[in-house]
Amino acid sequence: RHRALVIVAAGSGTRLGHGMPKAAVKITDRTVLDHALDAVTEDLDVDLIVLVLPQDAHSPHQLAPNGHNLGQRSRAVLTVSGGDTRTESVGSGVRAVQHHAEQQSWAGAVHVLIHDAARALTPTSVFSRVLDALDSGAVSVIPALPVTDTIKRVDASERVAQTVPRQDLRAVQTPQGFTLELLQRAFAHIEGLSEAEAAVLTDEAMIVEDLGETVTVVEGHPHALKITTSIDLTTVRALIAEYDE
Ligand code: CTP
Ligand code: MG
Repeated sequence: RHRALVIVAAGSGTRLGHGMPKAAVKITDRTVLDHALDAVTEDLDVDLIVLVLPQDAHSPHQLAPNGHNLGQRSRAVLTVSGGDTRTESVGSGVRAVQHHAEQQSWAGAVHVLIHDAARALTPTSVFSRVLDALDSGAVSVIPALPVTDTIKRVDASERVAQTVPRQDLRAVQTPQGFTLELLQRAFAHIEGLSEAEAAVLTDEAMIVEDLGETVTVVEGHPHALKITTSIDLTTVRALIAEYDE
């Protein structure tokens, strides 16, 4: 089997509101993208890394990996442009994986991890857990954590309709892992959906659920939180300050 890692970093970062792609925002003196790439250590056993970057990566904000040796362990490293939605950006990355696999005549299974650059402090151990579950035969794997808040479903007039039993709930993170074969089927499936139907599918695991395939859950990590708004940036900076003490 071969393994590819797709890192999607092509979002605009509207909710963070820094007027630049989120991956280009500095957490410390280093960007979100650079922190995310710190997970790609010597220990991470992948054959191909695909970076999905904003289309206009050249101006006005340079967005390129800085100070990483991604090509160690003779990994191939490719950069492609993203699209208007996360799903389109993942699609660009998956097409690049498919193309590379054909070019290199990869035989046997190809396992693909899809990771959000916005989860910039995700430890390498989470990537390894997802890869191990794929090696054990899972076709679709997501890292997740128990939900700590009490969650209620409300009706249209903002009245509580139901309290959802918390022990059954998980908050989902990335990297999410799939066989390339299943990802290809998932993207073929969404081609047939309307724009409105496709818009609610916020990750590839949801498409896989739609196909009736089993999605396996492995343990995520608190540090894998997604930087979405400024409070997340504050949290991530505090975590980094803690490591450095
Ligand atoms: N992403 C992407 N291409 C898009 C949209 C999102 O590659 N068109 C990536 C982001 O770069 C991020 C991940 O998907 O790493 C999760 O998306 P999100 O947190 O929503 O990031 P943004 O879309 O950049 O943020 P916002 O929705 O606030 O604009
Ligand atoms: Mg977004």
